[in-house]
Amino acid sequence: MDLIQIMKGKACKKTTTIVLPEGTEERTVQAAGIITKEKIAKVILLGEKNEVEAVAKKLNTNLDGVTIINPIESEKYKEYSQDLFELRKNKGLTFEAAQELAKNPLYYGALMVNKDDADGMVAGAQNTTGDVLRPALQIIKTEKGISSVSGAFIMIVPDCEFGEKGVMVFADCAVNPNPTAEQLAEMAYLSAKTAKALVGFEPKVGMLSFSTKGSAQHELVDKVVRATQIAKEKYPDLDVDGELQADAALVPKVGSSKAPDSKVAGKVNVLIFPDLQSGNIGYKLVQRLAKAEAVGPVLQGMNKPVNDLSRGCSIEDIVNTVAMTALQC
Ligand code: ACO
Repeated sequence: MDLIQIMKGKACKKTTTIVLPEGTEERTVQAAGIITKEKIAKVILLGEKNEVEAVAKKLNTNLDGVTIINPIESEKYKEYSQDLFELRKNKGLTFEAAQELAKNPLYYGALMVNKDDADGMVAGAQNTTGDVLRPALQIIKTEKGISSVSGAFIMIVPDCEFGEKGVMVFADCAVNPNPTAEQLAEMAYLSAKTAKALVGFEPKVGMLSFSTKGSAQHELVDKVVRATQIAKEKYPDLDVDGELQADAALVPKVGSSKAPDSKVAGKVNVLIFPDLQSGNIGYKLVQRLAKAEAVGPVLQGMNKPVNDLSRGCSIEDIVNTVAMTALQC
C-alpha cells in the first residue's frame, strides 16, 4: 500500500473536522464530496449556501454530510470579530477593521480553528501562499516554544535508493525566504518531527550547503555550520549533521568519503535547505525531473494545523492534503 493510502487510512480512524474556506471553488467542492464519502474527515465549506450548492449541482457532487457556513450570516460572526479584535488590537487593528476581516473566509476559517470549531484548515486552490499563511500566522500562531513556521514536503521518488527507499522530507520549501541559523536549526527539529509523525521513519537530518565539512569558505556556509551547531546543542536527541552537499548527504559512498566522521552523511532522509530559493527550486526539480510525488507543503510549527495548496492543485491533492491535515490534528 502506498504512503498516501496509509495516511488516508490513518485519517479515517480519527474524527476531525477540517474547514475549507474556498467553498465555491470547483476542485474544493468536488474534494469535499470525496473526503466526506471516504470518511477522511468532516468538512466545513465556507461560502454563500446557494452558491456552494449551485457549484455542487453543476459538478454533480453530493454534499450530503458537508456543513456549509456563510461567514457574514453565521451566528459566530460577531464573536469571531471580537476575537480577532482582541488578538490584533495591540497591532493597531480597530473593531471595525476586525469585522471586515472576519468576513474574509481565510480569516474566518483561521478564527474557527482558533476557537476549536474546526480542527484544521486547508486552502490555497484559489489564494496565494501569502494570503493563506498571513491569517493563520496572525491568529493561530506558532506552537509553544517555536519561533517560526516552516513548510516541508514529503517527497516520494520512484525507483530511488536514497532516503527511505525514495521517501524523504524536504524543508523549508514554502515559507521563510531567508532564515537565520536559529530558524534553520528549528526547522531541522520540526522536520524530523514531521517525518516521524507523517511518514513514520527515524529521521536523519542533513543541513545542506554547497560545502561539505569545510570544503568551501563563505558566509553562506558559515550560516549552515552555525545552524548545525545550534541544532546539535538545542536538540541533543536529534540525529543531525552538516554542513553537507546534497550528494554527501544522500549517497553512502560520497558521504563516507567527504564526511567520514559523520553519523548521518550518506543516509540523510530529512533535507534542510539553506534558504527558500534552494528549497523551493529543489523540490520542484525533483518533482519534475524524477517524476516524484510531492506531498505538501506540510506547515510545521503552527499551533494548530493549517495547510496550503498550490493554485495548480488537483482534486486529489486537496483530498490528500486534508488527510495529512487530519493526521496533524
Ligand atoms: N513563522 C511564524 N510567524 C511568522 C512567520 C513564520 N515563518 N513569518 C511571519 N510571521 C508572523 C509575523 O511575525 C507577523 O506576526 P505579527 O503580525 O503578529 O507581528 C505575521 O506573521 C505577519 O508577518 P509579516 O512578515 O508582516 O507578513 P508577510 O506579509 O511578510 O507574510 C509570509 C509572511 C506570508 C510567510 C511571507 O514570508 C511569504 O510570503 N513567504 C513566502 C511564501 C511563498 O511565496 N512561498 C513560495 C510558494 S509556496 C510553494 O511553492 C509550495
